[in-house]
Amino acid sequence: MNMASELWKSEALVHQYLTGVRGAIPLAAEQIDVMLRVVDSAVEDLRSIADLGCGGGVLSAALLERHPQARATLVDFSEPMIAEAKSSRLVR
Ligand SMILES: C[S@@+](CC[C@H](N)C(=O)[O-])C[C@H]1O[C@@H](n2cnc3c(N)ncnc32)[C@H](O)[C@@H]1O
Repeated sequence: MNMASELWKSEALVHQYLTGVRGAIPLAAEQIDVMLRVVDSAVEDLRSIADLGCGGGVLSAALLERHPQARATLVDFSEPMIAEAKSSRLVR
């Protein structure tokens, strides 16, 4: 594990990422839309999602909104990120 990846465990970085950086990723909404289209075209009845490096859970939230029958397993090594994902109302 390198030092850079350890930064994800910092409360301050997590706050900065979730409140500013995530939404400022160029074409962020379009990227999520592409993800949904790719999944739609590849899977008829989505039941399982493995969200590795889930962060605040934005990608699982988008998938679960489109596929409410699915169950998502969210994995992240950052405690503050997991706490955010758990507090998200979209992630069950
Ligand atoms: C760039 S963020 C992306 C978060 C989320 N998928 C999104 O789209 O907003 C990368 C995430 O991967 C997690 N991560 C990085 N290395 C990891 C590792 N080795 N094991 C588990 N999680 C890791 C970080 O804690 C962080 O939440």
